[in-house]
Amino acid sequence: MFASFIQKSCMLGLLAFTCLTPGSSLLAQKMTPLEKVELKQARKRAKKATRAIRKCFKQCKIPKRDLYKIALFIETELPKRVAAENRYYYSRVKTRLARTIELDPRTNKVFIHLKQHGLKKLGRGACKKVTYSILYSTTHPKKVAYSLANRPNENEAQATLDLKDGKRLYKVISVLTDSRNQGSNKFSFVSKYYEMGDFANFLNKKRQSLKFKDKFRFCRDIMIGIQSMHSKSYAHRDLGLKNFFVEKRRGKVRLVVADFGRAVKDGYTNEKGAQGGYSLCAPEGLDYNSLQGDDYLRTDIFALGCTFYKILYNTKPVWINLDQIKDTNVPVKTRQEHYIHALEQYRKKRGRELNQLCDQSKRFCQARLEKIILKMIHPDPLLRPTAAQVCQMLKDMH
Ligand SMILES: Nc1ncnc2c1ncn2[C@@H]1O[C@H](COP(=O)(O)OP(=O)(O)OP(=O)(O)O)[C@@H](O)[C@H]1O
Ligand SMILES: [Mg+2]
Repeated sequence: MFASFIQKSCMLGLLAFTCLTPGSSLLAQKMTPLEKVELKQARKRAKKATRAIRKCFKQCKIPKRDLYKIALFIETELPKRVAAENRYYYSRVKTRLARTIELDPRTNKVFIHLKQHGLKKLGRGACKKVTYSILYSTTHPKKVAYSLANRPNENEAQATLDLKDGKRLYKVISVLTDSRNQGSNKFSFVSKYYEMGDFANFLNKKRQSLKFKDKFRFCRDIMIGIQSMHSKSYAHRDLGLKNFFVEKRRGKVRLVVADFGRAVKDGYTNEKGAQGGYSLCAPEGLDYNSLQGDDYLRTDIFALGCTFYKILYNTKPVWINLDQIKDTNVPVKTRQEHYIHALEQYRKKRGRELNQLCDQSKRFCQARLEKIILKMIHPDPLLRPTAAQVCQMLKDMH
């Protein structure tokens, strides 16, 4: 499909572009009637796209004329250049346009990368810089997020492709290879733009106004997202609040799980560690060289138990003594024993309290959710429920 698009557009591309430059009327006179009609149509489409883009992203900081030139380039010149040069990334230096253009050869989607020309970054993590892009269309352009990695990330690219369209996982539009450098192992991603930002940010602003049913919905959304990953043998391994994104659906605030930068399939990884840091780490994760296979699924469940507690009580889990578990002067076995002991004590004491608090006739209450959390933080990884089981327990509460 793209090949015929390329053929048709080749001649038109050259003509349209030369027609933008001064002294071009001579060339325009040499055009056949058909070429003239096609050029007229391309200009019409470019105008339409310009209008639509300005409507969907008012503050995109590209002057109207520059945007029109970009749209005309996409409508005419881009297919010709892609066919001739076999590359998909067109920097401003290459095109002399106001912004970089990139095409996804898998889907033929075209993106205008806005980067940081007068715009704030959308986010920055340890591994990626995230800025805005526009998904080009003459009728329905979209403001999207563009994440550029600062280190090789082929595992993340594979995970992102494997997990695409999973339930309660962030929406990925394109996984892009670096077509400027052959054999490059750095990938960038275009995803849906979550205008409400990440969950850590959201909680900082809205924590006070949240009710139990909101918190419960957040836990359930996260769990469904993780179940989508675990069902495909992927562990997430970086379950911080910044890696959940917030969206509004049918008037309700909902979450999706994002950032597959540390995701591992079947436990195969060179980059060890149960989670990104110690604060969500299960006892067995302290000895991170011992982890393999499904162990990472179980350390994810533990981490989510800690996360749910944070969501419920807005405080660090009481069973984690960070100074103690991080102290590498103490042998790992001793640290594990102390940690497991603290967990056992806490689970026993809190379990008793919850039994008293729990009204047997009431299925939907905070105490019942906390009981599920106690199961998720079981010190014995084999006795923790699986993601599917936690999903079912949450469903049964409702
Ligand atoms: N699609 C998006 N919509 C809105 N904000 C986003 C989007 N993608 C990323 N962000 C913002 O950028 C931040 C960093 O993104 P991301 O988590 O993908 O990068 P990272 O470098 O892998 O992070 P980490 O430090 O967790 O490894 C997010 O926490 C979020 O605030
Ligand atoms: Mg992140």
